[in-house]
Amino acid sequence: MSDQLAPTTTKSAAAPFRIPSPSEVAPFAPDPAVLESNHIVGFNSRHLSSRPFSLLRSQLVKRMRSRGHKIVGVTSPAPGAGKSFLAANLAATLSRLPNYQVHVFDLDVRRASLAANYGLMGEVGLERFLSGETNDLAKVARHVEGTNLMLYPCFANDYDTMPLLASDRFAQFIASLRTLPEDHLVLFDMPPVFANDDAMVVAAQIDAYLMIIEQGRNSQRQVTDSMRLLDPAECIGSVLNRYDGGVGDPYGYSYGAYGKYTDYFSKND
Ligand SMILES: Nc1ncnc2c1ncn2[C@@H]1O[C@H](COP(=O)(O)OP(=O)(O)O)[C@@H](O)[C@H]1O
Ligand SMILES: [Mg+2]
Repeated sequence: MSDQLAPTTTKSAAAPFRIPSPSEVAPFAPDPAVLESNHIVGFNSRHLSSRPFSLLRSQLVKRMRSRGHKIVGVTSPAPGAGKSFLAANLAATLSRLPNYQVHVFDLDVRRASLAANYGLMGEVGLERFLSGETNDLAKVARHVEGTNLMLYPCFANDYDTMPLLASDRFAQFIASLRTLPEDHLVLFDMPPVFANDDAMVVAAQIDAYLMIIEQGRNSQRQVTDSMRLLDPAECIGSVLNRYDGGVGDPYGYSYGAYGKYTDYFSKND
C-alpha cells in the first residue's frame, strides 16, 4: 500500500456520525424460504447446520470481550471462499444473544451480497453513506424484526471503492462505531485480500479479522501471504469452509482448532 493510500488513523478522527438504534430504522422480516435457500441458518438454533455457527459465536465473543474488541472483519484470500455466507450466518447467530446489539456492514462494496443473502431490497445502501451522498445511517440500516440485529447492506456496486475506504470520512465512520456502548458488536463483511488494496485499508482500521479459508482452493502460501498483507491487524480466528475432513457438518465448515491451518496462525485464548 502506498503512503497516499494509508488511512487516517481512527485515534485522531472525529466521530460525527450517529449509529441508529433499532427503533429509528425500517424493520425487516426476512422470508424464511429465502434464508433457507441461501443457507442462512443462524437464526434457527434447532437447525442442524446452525451448531457450528453457535460454537464460533461463543469463541468469537469470548475473544472479543477479553481483548476489548468492538469491530471484527471477515475476510479471505480470494473471492468466493464463503465470507458473506459466514458473516450473514454469524450475524444471525450473534443476534440470538440477548445481551448484545449486533451490527453487520457489507464492506465488500464491489461484490456486495448481504442484501441478496437476506432477500433485502432498497435504494439507499451503505455505498451512499460511504460516498457522502447521505450522512444518515438510519436510512441505510434495517432492523431484523424480533432480533438484536441491524443490517447495513450495499445495493450499488459500481463505485470506485478505494476513495471510499481510504478517506477521512471512513476513519470518522470507524471512530463513530467506537463510541457505541460495550454491548454492541460490529461485524464487517470485508473485501478479499488478493483482489486489490481494499482489505488492507479496512484491516488497518478494525480490531481484528476472521480468516475464511476455502478447503481445496486456498493454499497455505496464500493464507500466510494474506496474513502478512493484513499485518499488523490481528487474526482472531480462522474458518476452514467447505471442509470435508470429517467434522460432520452437512455444509462443511470447521474452524479454529479443528482447521488444518491452525498451526500457522491461530491465537491462543
Ligand atoms: N459452507 C457452505 N455451504 C453452502 N454454501 C456455501 C458455503 N460456503 C459458501 N457457500 C455459497 O457459495 C457462494 C460463495 O460464497 P460467498 O459467501 O458469497 O463468498 P465470498 O463472500 O467469500 O465471496 C455463495 O452462494 C454461498 O452461499
Ligand atoms: Mg462476499
